[in-house]
Amino acid sequence: MTDTLAPVKPARLIINGQAVDAATGRTFRTLNPATEDVICDVAEAGPEDVDRAVQAARAAFADGPWPRMRPAERQRILWKLGDLVLEHADELARLETLDNGKPIFESRQVDIPMVAGCFHYFSGWATKLTGETIPVNPAYFTYTVREPIGVIGAIIPWNFPMIMVGWKCAPALAAGNCVVLKPAAETPLTAVRIGELGLEAGLPPGVLNVLPGHGTVAGAALVRHPGVDKITFTGSTEVGKTIMRECAETVKKVTLELGGKSPNIVFADADLEAAVRGAATGIFYGKGEVCAAGSRLLVEQSVHDEFVARLSDRAKKLVPADPLDPKTRLGALVNESQMKKVLGYVETGTREGARVVVGGQRQPVNGKGWFVQATVLDGVDNAMRVAQEEIFGPVLAVIPFDGPDDAVRKANDIFYGLAAGVWTKDVKKAHAVARRLQAGTVWVNLYNFYDPGMPFGGFKGSGFGRDLGAESVREYSQLKSVWMSIE
Ligand code: NAI
Ligand code: MG
Repeated sequence: MTDTLAPVKPARLIINGQAVDAATGRTFRTLNPATEDVICDVAEAGPEDVDRAVQAARAAFADGPWPRMRPAERQRILWKLGDLVLEHADELARLETLDNGKPIFESRQVDIPMVAGCFHYFSGWATKLTGETIPVNPAYFTYTVREPIGVIGAIIPWNFPMIMVGWKCAPALAAGNCVVLKPAAETPLTAVRIGELGLEAGLPPGVLNVLPGHGTVAGAALVRHPGVDKITFTGSTEVGKTIMRECAETVKKVTLELGGKSPNIVFADADLEAAVRGAATGIFYGKGEVCAAGSRLLVEQSVHDEFVARLSDRAKKLVPADPLDPKTRLGALVNESQMKKVLGYVETGTREGARVVVGGQRQPVNGKGWFVQATVLDGVDNAMRVAQEEIFGPVLAVIPFDGPDDAVRKANDIFYGLAAGVWTKDVKKAHAVARRLQAGTVWVNLYNFYDPGMPFGGFKGSGFGRDLGAESVREYSQLKSVWMSIE
């Protein structure tokens, strides 16, 4: 068993293969959302540290062994990092739960296998990034090669802090890039620890730098730095727009994953028991702080009342509890302002005419923590703010529909397009609806499933570019066309 009381050592920056303090000596505190206690001090990266880290990454890319070594050697090091994540699974899972407030069940049983899985899966791509020979003219030998882009700035959010390290860093490193990673200020601990494990696995100095710090300071400096070739970002729409504008200045490449308001569509002919479970995990997994959360539940009119009753029974049993208890399935929201934002949306929904069927309140555990009850809002119209805006908490908006056309129209009537769920036993209907949904991922008779091999990313306002899968390795590489005269 993990010792739940062991103190956590202060976290430092990782620059050029060394754990260092910030140039200014400044630190900030990271909090445990379940107890509101300080976990530890963290070195706070500022613009000078960003510059040091980018210089280190540039040097590692220009002169270091990483992009030049045999791909099989890169593969071996990244595979080893996956192994080290598994060897330190209990420690990393505990850090993640302390820092983020998510149940240890999720950190240990879901997040750890995904992070390790990313390093293992993408390690294999190091040896498989091939180009093509293209028959243009017998007088020439014409071919393409895939080359790394250079220095990647990775800016990640607080909802899946260590999973995002795997999603962004594993493919970027496999393709031969060097990375400057900025974790969210709310949850810096696992990123720093994985950075340390990377050095243990054999990543050369400067290949993976980790800079905990604030978005508007360290994040903004990274985005503006001329030594960075690409920014990969997951987070809020507003910050995504800013990053895209800033990247124009230095013509940086950019990939954005900006959340969603994903429809989870239940047809009357579905296996309703499975659909109730899927609707519940769709919104309550990860406290609903999940970019692909099935936060709009579209239910066919004829089963609406029965479905909402069954789902509400389930939601009532999902009680917030100590995230370190292995039985807990609903943890604390990441910080006080996120909790207030979520509770504010419950109020907004009520004012707009929605009805709170279950939940809707803060529910401290042992008198502390930013816990919010599993909440179901019924009687929601798709035009309401609670139907259109990302709440990012355990709050489900239930919207009735009448037949597949109405379902598709309502599902697509939104700025976002990250994911969607479809529940039906009718195979034709499932295919037809999946085809019409404007979403980067469609889950049919399941929800919230991910795999390192399966691309993930947004349509419409949810962003562009893909994490995971072969697609993501391609996005961390660039194509060179070579013409050779052979006659
Ligand atoms: P955010 O977008 O501010 O944070 C994401 C990352 O961007 C963090 O590492 C942050 O430090 C960094 N950042 C912030 N401002 C920046 C800037 N100007 N330049 C460069 N980097 C910057 O998200 P926030 O404010 O923590 O959460 C607000 C809302 O955003 C949430 O309530 C949720 O709706 C949404 N969100 C969506 C996520 C997703 O997975 N798509 C993840 C986190 C938040
Ligand atoms: Mg913010």
